[in-house]
Amino acid sequence: MIKYIGSKRTLTSLLVSILEALPNFHSIIDLFSGTSRVGHAFKAAGYRVASNDLNAYAHSLATCYVQADRERVERDARRLIAEFSRLPGRDGYFTETFCRRSRFFQPHNGARVDAIREAIAARNLDPELEHVLLVSLMEAADRVDSTCGLQMAYVKSWAKRAYNNLELRLPEVLPALPQGRCEAHRLDARQAARELRADVAYLDPPYNSHSYLGNYHIWESLVLWDKPEVYGVACKRVDCRTRKSDFNQRRRHVEAFQETYRALDCPLVMVSFNNEGFQSRQQMQALLAERGPVFVISRDFKRYVGAQIGIHNPKGERVGEVTHLNNKEFIYLVPTEAGRRTVGLEARLRAIAERADEPKTPKAPQRRRAARAPVRDTDALRARILQALRRRGPQSMAELGRALQLSEYHLRLHLGALANAGAVRRDEAGRPRRYRLAEQIADG
Ligand SMILES: C[S@@+](CC[C@H](N)C(=O)[O-])C[C@H]1O[C@@H](n2cnc3c(N)ncnc32)[C@H](O)[C@@H]1O
Repeated sequence: MIKYIGSKRTLTSLLVSILEALPNFHSIIDLFSGTSRVGHAFKAAGYRVASNDLNAYAHSLATCYVQADRERVERDARRLIAEFSRLPGRDGYFTETFCRRSRFFQPHNGARVDAIREAIAARNLDPELEHVLLVSLMEAADRVDSTCGLQMAYVKSWAKRAYNNLELRLPEVLPALPQGRCEAHRLDARQAARELRADVAYLDPPYNSHSYLGNYHIWESLVLWDKPEVYGVACKRVDCRTRKSDFNQRRRHVEAFQETYRALDCPLVMVSFNNEGFQSRQQMQALLAERGPVFVISRDFKRYVGAQIGIHNPKGERVGEVTHLNNKEFIYLVPTEAGRRTVGLEARLRAIAERADEPKTPKAPQRRRAARAPVRDTDALRARILQALRRRGPQSMAELGRALQLSEYHLRLHLGALANAGAVRRDEAGRPRRYRLAEQIADG
């Protein structure tokens, strides 16, 4: 998936485990979906997901990772990826704007982006298939860019990865869920809150004035392919000046958030917000408390890469120092009026918050290695997980991770899907929790 500021990559397993402890909840709305990592993890765990984001590139990601079902798109996507991978480069808007006027990509890669993007546009494809190919292209370009993960600026001398050749890969589109279709929307969060219904709403809004459109303007132009006029060193789309989100404005943020929150018709609301945003923990708790008791989980979180390396001006000169490398991410859980009719929900949420808020043990080096293991073929991976459980008997997630060199994120995805399909069971008692083959339970 693309590099993205505020991405909840490291929190998805915690978010999924919260809902897994609440057996009555089966559907979720992700109102600010960004990369769609969160929606993807929930769909993989068997939840029906509706994703929403204001920006076109995020809608494309959500259509690919949440709405599209593997059975419907995989064959055509594989065929077209193979075909487009053979296309020779052809200079066009992308090369001129992002490789010559600015230096985000090397021209040989820019020309291939131009050729592939024109080919996608020319085919008039079914929208879901088109979004899968756009995501494949976006992610391929992301792997050879020359930025720190933000498109406000490119790095002074070429990043090493920019010399690699652009390579299209099939995104990890998930299989259909038996309980119904997942959806991707492109609405303002306030409208989405009024129109969409689910058991749970997850809100991960922008925290500060850094506009996502400005930070990811190249992906917006790549997806919309409207070849807009651009301005400044970073060649941003001119509409970055006018398309502003209220959530990015200090004066409007709280009101926009409150309007969204009040409009939600979901028994449980989960909110992610950090300690450096427009609202402090106290303010957020006070705002959320108007609809129910608020339970809070906190996590240390690595700050965005700019904060790790210091602040630089457009000439690449350092103008700001690194102050601190981590901040705190808070997850707020609120059972709303409807939720409080569910017997025992408050007690469960209290227990979840108390347990999850325990200090985390430091990551073992092995886990870090596992997190980098490439994951491509879902079926093959699931077969390996089943084989490991068959051979080794019940295993904890950490044991499986070590044995298969898989990250917790991927294990959670695939174990969730296997549990959903009835192939794997999770022991409810004991810590760490163990997973076993369903057939082993039948065998006794
Ligand atoms: C913190 S990011 C979400 C990150 C996401 N949870 C992930 O893991 O990738 C906030 C998102 O809110 C979106 N956004 C900004 N203003 C919005 C609005 N008014 N309505 C809906 N989405 C909005 C941005 O495009 C951005 O993707």
